[in-house]
Amino acid sequence: MMASMKYVKALAPGKVNLALRVGASRADGFHPLDTVFEALDIYEELEAWADPSGAITLEYDLAGFGADLPVDESNLAIRAAQALRERFVENGMRTATDKGNAADCSDKSCSAGYSCGEGDISGECISRKDEMGSDSPVSLSAACFGAHMKILKRIPIAGGMAGGSADAAAALVALNSLWELGLDRAELAEIGADLGSDVPFILMGEIARGRSRGEDLVPLSSQCPHGFVMLINPEGLSTPAVFKEYDRLAAKRALLAGDNDTRGRGSSLLRDQAKNAEMAKVSAPNSTAELCAALTKAQEVRDIAPYMGNDLEEPAFSLRPDLREIAQKIRELQRRDTNMGAGVILSGSGPTIAVLCEPHETQSVAAQLQLHFPKLTMLCACGPAQGAGVCSEW
Ligand code: C5P
Repeated sequence: MMASMKYVKALAPGKVNLALRVGASRADGFHPLDTVFEALDIYEELEAWADPSGAITLEYDLAGFGADLPVDESNLAIRAAQALRERFVENGMRTATDKGNAADCSDKSCSAGYSCGEGDISGECISRKDEMGSDSPVSLSAACFGAHMKILKRIPIAGGMAGGSADAAAALVALNSLWELGLDRAELAEIGADLGSDVPFILMGEIARGRSRGEDLVPLSSQCPHGFVMLINPEGLSTPAVFKEYDRLAAKRALLAGDNDTRGRGSSLLRDQAKNAEMAKVSAPNSTAELCAALTKAQEVRDIAPYMGNDLEEPAFSLRPDLREIAQKIRELQRRDTNMGAGVILSGSGPTIAVLCEPHETQSVAAQLQLHFPKLTMLCACGPAQGAGVCSEW
């Protein structure tokens, strides 16, 4: 059996949505999406150390972001670690039993080299992968699934770039390795989907079309790399608040459509029909098929820019008119000057604004934009980038 790992480092990328089409809210409160995700080479870095006490703890190095982040059970990395542990402890006997080598291990001395103390959840016989990839049964107490995690934050907080989901994805891949669980990507994605809609994509990386809540993924191919200048806003925006505003604006549009249709006619039947028609328009998200087709052929970023679009822009701009002004100003600059990038889009639910350009242009576009928006931070990025993965372990 291989020596147990005591330390793992993992990276997980941020993302931008090249298109984000939203439908009317479902019974579970989520909105159906048709989106194109692109992973960016801005990575959260997560280090994890085995903790023989069985505790799961977290600290951040916020790298100048300034804000504080909770490290309790509301944190997605903590929740990812707990979900992984729960799932594995629940299923711990499965592999061993399937292989016919389940044993009644009551030995509290953990074969990973830990001495599990008081308060062990149970003494379990589970199996782990050895060097050859075969299952080898080991005696391990559930309390031995402990870890201390440290995240170096590089993705803006509440910025619409999936920073929280990246922390969860990094925790899943790091602890899967640290605890030697041997879960495959599909199993990690299944756990990740319960934590947040973007987590499965952050695990997958590159570029993909996402439907349902965003977790139903189909990988796409892109012919050319894409450069981005991300305009980071100091004040974050809450994703649920933006979706709520989306609902409010849709209901208002439906009401107005009903009123306009029946003005002077006084028919409540007609008004209801018009309202239903307006609501039906948003019941399913618009398709991102044209963008997907353009991506397979595009030789330069200008070929995909016309197909970008984000249905969360209107609600985000309604909550934060300053963002509308920024986007409008950049569009104006791009109309006048072809060296200012090919397109602009709100990243996810915002407030980060993404300017699409050729990868070699990112520094010059960022420098010019900085002159126009001195209070915003410019981050240069490229995509498509790799999904979450372990980069070192010992
Ligand atoms: O899945 P995630 O935790 O990222 O979602 C955060 C919130 O964003 C949800 O609680 C929901 O209010 C909203 N949301 C939504 N429809 C989606 C994804 C997110 O309404 N497809």
